[in-house]
Amino acid sequence: MQIDKRPRRLRYNSHIRDMVRETDITVNALMYPVFVVHGKGIKQEINAMPGIYRFSIDMLLEELKEVVSLNIPSIMVFGIPDHKDEMASEAYDKNGIVQQAIKAIKDRYPELVVTTDVCLCEYTANGHCGLVNNGMIVNDPSVELIARTALSHVEAGADMVAPSDMMDGRVGAIRRLLDKSGYDHIPIMAYSAKYASAYYGPFREAADSAPKFGDRRSYQMDPANAREALREIALDIEEGADIIMVKPALAYLDVIAKARATFNYPVAAYNVSGEYSMIKAAGMNGWIDEKAVVMETMTAIRRAGADIIITYFAKDVARWLITR
Ligand code: PBG
Ligand code: ZN
Repeated sequence: MQIDKRPRRLRYNSHIRDMVRETDITVNALMYPVFVVHGKGIKQEINAMPGIYRFSIDMLLEELKEVVSLNIPSIMVFGIPDHKDEMASEAYDKNGIVQQAIKAIKDRYPELVVTTDVCLCEYTANGHCGLVNNGMIVNDPSVELIARTALSHVEAGADMVAPSDMMDGRVGAIRRLLDKSGYDHIPIMAYSAKYASAYYGPFREAADSAPKFGDRRSYQMDPANAREALREIALDIEEGADIIMVKPALAYLDVIAKARATFNYPVAAYNVSGEYSMIKAAGMNGWIDEKAVVMETMTAIRRAGADIIITYFAKDVARWLITR
């Protein structure tokens, strides 16, 4: 038989496949999200996210021992306050849950890159990411409180802040406030192309942050839009973002690829709660091979162009990279 081109030559055995592999997963790319609550001795599993917990600070420090020993460089901290109100006051309280957690974490693990999610939705009584007036989410007053929240995290010791609210102008407002407060060295990872996605469902149970009325479509992006994502990213870069993010990851790999191709900035992808839960549920039922599917998923997100992957699977991936 006369066959001139034989691509299978490069798949002949595992060594040659390793030699020509285009994409690698590295532990350095991983960021692990954690949920922290007030109290002591609390480690409460999230119903829709088996293997993921809400921790009180003491228990979180235990959990982070493993994260650090696996060489995962960074975490993303989410706080669940005791107190919610119209002004989201615990969000920027210097004794708030996140601020306390940051201090405790940096005290115990000074090398860990502590990134914080900056938003109001866990703290507002109505569950929206901004302040509400007459049923509308108001932009500029929200931005002011979001910038104050970011500053309070940095004052507590956060290494990086990640605004996830999708208000206009918040990256610039945070940058200016940090700069004039003596924190011009602190980077901003902007949730730039953040879509109004049904994949956040399990997270909203975990963070108790579902909106009490309406939805988030007046501030988060329409899943149908990709060009708009590039405009959002361009604005965030202009305003001072150091790392740009696309969220969710899997249904938006095209957006990750466009972000990679268009901008010379590090790209983060958030492999969100619903993406975690779907794989976890199918894995637990024996319907798919969880490890294989997770590693294939991580490879896909990296191949699309993500430098950083924020994922609830971070500990598993780090372990699997070691035992591979
Ligand atoms: C807060 C925030 C959300 C997520 C990250 N930060 C929820 C939302 O916007 O409704 C989602 C994370 C996930 O689903 O894993 N604004
Ligand atoms: Zn929010």
